[in-house]
Amino acid sequence: MKNWTLLGEAPVPGADKSLHLYQGKDDFFIKITGVSGELMSTRKHGSEDALGTLPCQRLQDTQSAKVLIGGLGMGFTLAAALKEVGTNAQVTVAELVAEVVEWNRGPLGAASGRPLDDPRTRVYVGDVARLLRKNQSCWDVIAMDVDNGPEGLTQGLNDRIYTTQGILTAQAALRPGGILAYWSAGPDQGFHDRLRRCGFLVEEIPVFAHGTKGPRHIIWLASQA
Ligand SMILES: C[S@@+](CC[C@H](N)C(=O)[O-])C[C@H]1O[C@@H](n2cnc3c(N)ncnc32)[C@H](O)[C@@H]1O
Repeated sequence: MKNWTLLGEAPVPGADKSLHLYQGKDDFFIKITGVSGELMSTRKHGSEDALGTLPCQRLQDTQSAKVLIGGLGMGFTLAAALKEVGTNAQVTVAELVAEVVEWNRGPLGAASGRPLDDPRTRVYVGDVARLLRKNQSCWDVIAMDVDNGPEGLTQGLNDRIYTTQGILTAQAALRPGGILAYWSAGPDQGFHDRLRRCGFLVEEIPVFAHGTKGPRHIIWLASQA
């Protein structure tokens, strides 16, 4: 922490926790109250990129795709999805913490290439679960990274997203042929099985957190059978 400067602090709605944005020498970090280590860092985003890239690459038609990303964070998943889709596409990012959007509009945004400035980007400030419930048969890709994975850290309420009911709600929000993608810090057989029981074909893809060695995260891609 010695050479880090605290740039901002934001309470997480519905949780007794705050996010803290720090600037280091060449990077930024976001930490969450009560958890050691960083929740996000601009140094390591290989698996966040993959969450945006992999499901969009599997679409038949990317030209006018409608993509929903759950959790802006540092904007890497959003930036990666925008690279894969066409000029008429729309990529909506839902972010619970309004200050995270402000941070990305400020100095933090340069690290991911300022995807919020892309004319195809739409921002929804609020709970992604709410947006999913409101929009049926709407999205070609839904890419979720609102937490550490099925074992939530940010908000206890996020656990709902990974239950059978949460998966069925996301499934109903997909267009025919759409793909559901989830990020996780590690494997979770129970969640994998729940996706399959909801009728999806499931791929579980380990992705390096950074570069080509070290810890790997998990991306699940769930497509309609
Ligand atoms: C791990 S970060 C996402 C990282 C992102 N994939 C990236 O490329 O940097 C999780 C983000 O989801 C947000 N979040 C948590 N719960 C949410 C919810 N229910 N709806 C929308 N956003 C949520 C957090 O505030 C945080 O910004």
